[in-house]
Amino acid sequence: MSATMNEAWAKVETEAARLRGAKLLDLFAADPNRVETLTFEAPHLKADFSKQRIDGPACDAVAALARAADFDGWRAKLFNGEAVNTTENRAARHWALRITDPPGGDNEVTAVLDRMHEFAHEIGESGDFDAVIHIGIGGSDLGPRLVLDALKAYRRSNIIVRFAANVDGADVADAIEGLDPKRTLLIVVSKTFTTQETLANAEFVRAWGPARIAAATAATEKAVAWGVAERDVFPFWDWVGGRYSLWSSVSLVCEIALTHGVFFRMLEGAEEMDTHFRNAPFAENLPAISAAVQMWNREALGHGSYALVPYSERLRLLPAWLQQLEMESNGKGVSRDGAPLKRSACAVTWGAAGTNAQHSFFQLLHQGVDEIPVEFIVNAGAQEGPASHRAKVYANALAQARALMVGKSAAQAKAEMIAKGVSEAEAERLAPHRAFSGKRASTLMAIDELSPEALGALLAFYEHRTFAEAVLAGINPFDQWGVELGKEMAAALLPALEGGTPPADLDPSTAAWVRQLRT
Ligand code: F6P
Repeated sequence: MSATMNEAWAKVETEAARLRGAKLLDLFAADPNRVETLTFEAPHLKADFSKQRIDGPACDAVAALARAADFDGWRAKLFNGEAVNTTENRAARHWALRITDPPGGDNEVTAVLDRMHEFAHEIGESGDFDAVIHIGIGGSDLGPRLVLDALKAYRRSNIIVRFAANVDGADVADAIEGLDPKRTLLIVVSKTFTTQETLANAEFVRAWGPARIAAATAATEKAVAWGVAERDVFPFWDWVGGRYSLWSSVSLVCEIALTHGVFFRMLEGAEEMDTHFRNAPFAENLPAISAAVQMWNREALGHGSYALVPYSERLRLLPAWLQQLEMESNGKGVSRDGAPLKRSACAVTWGAAGTNAQHSFFQLLHQGVDEIPVEFIVNAGAQEGPASHRAKVYANALAQARALMVGKSAAQAKAEMIAKGVSEAEAERLAPHRAFSGKRASTLMAIDELSPEALGALLAFYEHRTFAEAVLAGINPFDQWGVELGKEMAAALLPALEGGTPPADLDPSTAAWVRQLRT
């Protein structure tokens, strides 16, 4: 790490030492403008960081760290199309997929979009199809799945969509259940067209006899060799990382299953966020500030995970999508130049939709020994379903954030019990169990409505935040070598599990399990 980075970190650590034990309510008392100062806006999105353990000097220290990490320089490299993926010598131009009106006129991206649009029209309007099965995994699955779930209000009514990702055969068996192959389109989605799970599932569905097969891939020749007609292959490019690919032909199923223009509106919303991230200075840049808060919580304050809790049923798949985006991007142990990292570059992302999560893991968030920061998201716009539920959703989200921050002392818990007629001794015994430490940090974010534009902006926000976190940590977020070893070992074990001879060099535990599980 450079001397400038070491110096910047020393300042961050000084501020963290000052704030580590601070009561959040004291920070509000010290600054009457705290909510305004720590609330930031970007297209379709607003984030209030006032319930985070930060203040002006802490923000200055992380801004200095961003300068030392050359945030501006790396952001320029990203948008200049330079090879920011340094181990694969590739650009990361996912943002170029959402330039909806390219300055030089049509290009390879818009050409594929046009073809997707025509194909979607054909499938949706011909009357020959009533189902689409989308086969893909990871980045070739999570994005389209989330988009179709989130934008249910914008779905066509005549097309059933099924996804299958898992190589557990139950997934693909569920996908075909009750469908008529003669009225079903299969879409095989794989950037590499080599992924074991995807090919196994696709072969199974192909043998079932779907009426038509399409593919979305960066390896057209492999898809054609596998048997997809060239006219039905929708390409994307090696400069689109798998987990950044939902804006590409990977979302052909969305173009088909959403009503006309909706997918394009999502691209437009994402493009608005791109413009914000590309142009706003660090101190006003929502993805960058949010990345700094993530880094602050993780590395300065030592909270190794955070919970993402969208108070929106339609965003229930967001945590699964974000887990891949953040942890496959930033779950790295070495810097860009291969030096071991002194500090972790990525928190554990986990979570579930509220209010369900309140009846699951919120006990741990409120009273567990370790503090786990929470990122709340609400939809500030119109909501589906009964109108009377709307206020209840907000009441719950706001109450949880407030309860985490305010807490309840044992004395207060005891007094409340005594006021309700509980004996002094019993109240004394129960008070520690019914007390809340409080002082637990959270961020509250709001999208203006659950529109295609806002969803696009939200997902692009997370992509840029992930990149900004990587810049602060000095790592490459665009490769994923860490998934390779397990894949190699699975390929080596497969013949033995299918009845062949196990590899000679197996460890005793694996060898014993191979003997037990082989077919
Ligand atoms: O899990 C590793 C990974 O390579 C992801 O990065 C990717 O999204 C997924 O597998 C699927 O890969 P493909 O689209 O090439 O089938």
